[in-house]
Amino acid sequence: MNIKSSWLKSGFVNEEVPTGIDIKKEIVRLKEEKDAIIMAHFYQTNEIQDIADFVGDSLALAQKAAKTDSKIIVLAGVHFMGETAKILSPEKTVLVPDLNAGCSLADSCPPDEFKSFVDKHPDYTVLTYVNTTAKIKALSDIVVTSTNAKNIVDSLPKNEKIIFGPDRNLGNYLNSISGREMVLWDGACHVHEKFSVEKIVELKEQHPEALVLAHPECKKPLLLLADFVGSTAALLNYSIKSDAKKFIVATESGIIHQMQMESNDKVFIPAPPNDSTCACNDCEYMKLNSLEKLYNALKYEWPSIEVDETIRLDAVKPINRMLDISHKAGL
Ligand code: 13P
Ligand code: SF4
Repeated sequence: MNIKSSWLKSGFVNEEVPTGIDIKKEIVRLKEEKDAIIMAHFYQTNEIQDIADFVGDSLALAQKAAKTDSKIIVLAGVHFMGETAKILSPEKTVLVPDLNAGCSLADSCPPDEFKSFVDKHPDYTVLTYVNTTAKIKALSDIVVTSTNAKNIVDSLPKNEKIIFGPDRNLGNYLNSISGREMVLWDGACHVHEKFSVEKIVELKEQHPEALVLAHPECKKPLLLLADFVGSTAALLNYSIKSDAKKFIVATESGIIHQMQMESNDKVFIPAPPNDSTCACNDCEYMKLNSLEKLYNALKYEWPSIEVDETIRLDAVKPINRMLDISHKAGL
């Protein structure tokens, strides 16, 4: 059985690679031979971030996917990120090294239930976080990421009635900083909801000089104690510009790789989750991708993301609205 049919049979991407090869060199060779670009999210493993041509947050990955000239986009991230790239660049082959890399937040918003929610609010503008399936985007008026959400909410008239989904924590946070009363879908990310406020308070006692950086997908009590709240890119920029030398980082620990590379004189402490003895909190979906799977994805040009064209045509509009508003806001 060849490797591709064994993947198809098992439903999983086989991690097997030929013995004796230098996998990093082979990835670079295949990438050049096939005119591919490797794009990675900040939550990927250090070695994937290091081999990528481009590393960024959800917004930067979408912006890059919309304008790249490469024939193949390898999106080392989760499924919705690959889907967004495919929606924006349907003529390109978009590969995600492990198609099982899903997202608990996207899963917390089933399309049929979300459609009923939208139908119950007929005169509302539908804002959705990018962490959703293409079907949810197709039901939306504007997509947002955590980098541009505040700008996009602020761009709407003050009296506009808005539905926001699927992340209740980001939605509550946006309501609090924008003075809106958006009606929220009750979804969440299991990684960000798991951070322990108690353990972070203990860490603060041990490191009183440390600043707490938190992603807006975290629960409200954590956001209230944070010194800075922002998207992965915003947290990274803050850590670079800040005079502080120590940070407690309440988001997926992959971001610490870039923080440490940018500021090797600073200390970054991953915020711990509440349910284990492990010091950091990883997204098991993001961490499904590996160098071996990336190599095989490039070699076999598989597994690729496919989006139904009718859904894509509806989904591309709210993503393009997001990109337009972001561009105007200089993001
Ligand atoms: P960012 O857009 O801030 O990178 O967030 C992506 C994500 O999945 C957060 O959990
Ligand atoms: Fe989804 Fe949470 Fe993983 Fe981000 S960290 S990809 S929101 S499950």
